[in-house]
Amino acid sequence: MNRSVFIGIDLGTSAVKLLLVDQQGTVLNTVSREYPLYFPEPGWSEQDPADWWTAVRAGVRELTAGFDASKVAGIGCSGQMHGLVALDGNDNVIRPAILWNDGRTAEETVWLNTAVGKRKLSDLTANIAFAGFTAPKLLWMQKHEPDKFARIAKIMLPKDYINYMLTGVHACDFSDASGMLLLDVKHRCWSKEMLDICGVKEAQMPKLFESYEVIGTVLPETAAELGLPMTVKVVAGAGDNAAAAVGTGVVGEGGCNISLGTSGTIFISSKNFGVDPHNALHAFCHADGGWHLMDCMLSAASCNKWFCEDILGTSDYAAEQVDVSDDRLGGNRVFFLPYLMGERSPINDTDARGIFVGLSLDTGRTDMVQAVLEGVAFALRDSLEVAKAIGLSIDRSFLCGGGAKSPLWRKILANVLNISLDIPQTEEGPGYGGAMLAMVGTGAYGSVQACADALCHVRETVSPDPEIAARYEAQYRKFRKIYPTMKELFQEIK
Ligand code: XUL
Repeated sequence: MNRSVFIGIDLGTSAVKLLLVDQQGTVLNTVSREYPLYFPEPGWSEQDPADWWTAVRAGVRELTAGFDASKVAGIGCSGQMHGLVALDGNDNVIRPAILWNDGRTAEETVWLNTAVGKRKLSDLTANIAFAGFTAPKLLWMQKHEPDKFARIAKIMLPKDYINYMLTGVHACDFSDASGMLLLDVKHRCWSKEMLDICGVKEAQMPKLFESYEVIGTVLPETAAELGLPMTVKVVAGAGDNAAAAVGTGVVGEGGCNISLGTSGTIFISSKNFGVDPHNALHAFCHADGGWHLMDCMLSAASCNKWFCEDILGTSDYAAEQVDVSDDRLGGNRVFFLPYLMGERSPINDTDARGIFVGLSLDTGRTDMVQAVLEGVAFALRDSLEVAKAIGLSIDRSFLCGGGAKSPLWRKILANVLNISLDIPQTEEGPGYGGAMLAMVGTGAYGSVQACADALCHVRETVSPDPEIAARYEAQYRKFRKIYPTMKELFQEIK
């Protein structure tokens, strides 16, 4: 029996999660290390790449402690998408990374969508501009930090920084590169015209790979420091949503994965390239060599984390949810709008913010906890409606991400979306997907599909209950009225 093991890394927004997995898909060990997230101005969101690298190094050592590290054959990294990491000619990070949920680029986004024009952007990249994407961040830096912009030698995405530190190779995979608004997604190459528009040269951009392709081996001094063999191969990896889809087996044609992580996404895989005619869904490359359509809401599980930890002062989420019995589902008079960092899909509004509606003197803590979970589910339903409107039929989906660990939230989601949700055997979506990509890259499996067929299984299915789903249908209609009522006021109070 082959005893090779693989490391999957998920460079998330609140923490990096590392997995040690064998070729049969058994997760041998997991480690999680947190790092700070900075909000230097309202709506801005930054992290220090040095914090990521420190956490990854310590995480790898902790992960392999007690195991035979000489058996590690490959590493696959997945990461938060869209973040701008800029290095100077000496490989120093020029400024903190500007993250996917940063809303500072409203002006640049409007300029791209109007002056360049949505039609042209879509022709060049298969997508229009959203504030979180990388291209508007480059334009912002060019305008607000011209000296720093002029020093940029290498542009990369968060997980590519880790791959660069591991291997010294400036690389990016197609799934993550799709979210930069600089990639010709259909032809899987940089769009020279978009690079020109953003004032950057192809020499500053990473070399492109399929997610499962090997970009290099771990640098000798890094391998020695981490206690890994020098033969360890590193694959290009993937954006976290594509990696999560691989990890749940959503590859090939027509699969759906919903991720209830810091962000909330609906991901629909396809063998063929396709664009949403309204560009409301992102059209990106997939990590299996194909493509996908995706919706992304910016604050999903982070809403529950914020409400429990920052407002209620507890990290015992389960205790807060224990009183939400079935008879309460679909009957809450309190509503919550989950736009804590503005919102991307489907409203594309950096000024939107969170609110509670319907509070009264008899509102209790549990009503508000429930409203937060429901508000996120309703906002995901908004995204599902966008997908349905272009004719995609989604009657079941996989569900992964930190929020999916809550049985209550799963039930709320299945009923609000009115679809069955398959919970994968291995819940570590993106990290598991990263490890699987490493297995494919090192030849343990012939393709991503073959690897998914062998390793991805459903553990349980959560199906909607017709009565609860009907109650939620009525609630959703009320929810839909809240944002349009507030839209103008959000602009006034920003
Ligand atoms: C996807 C997106 C988020 C981040 C979160 O477009 O912005 O899902 O990748 O990590």
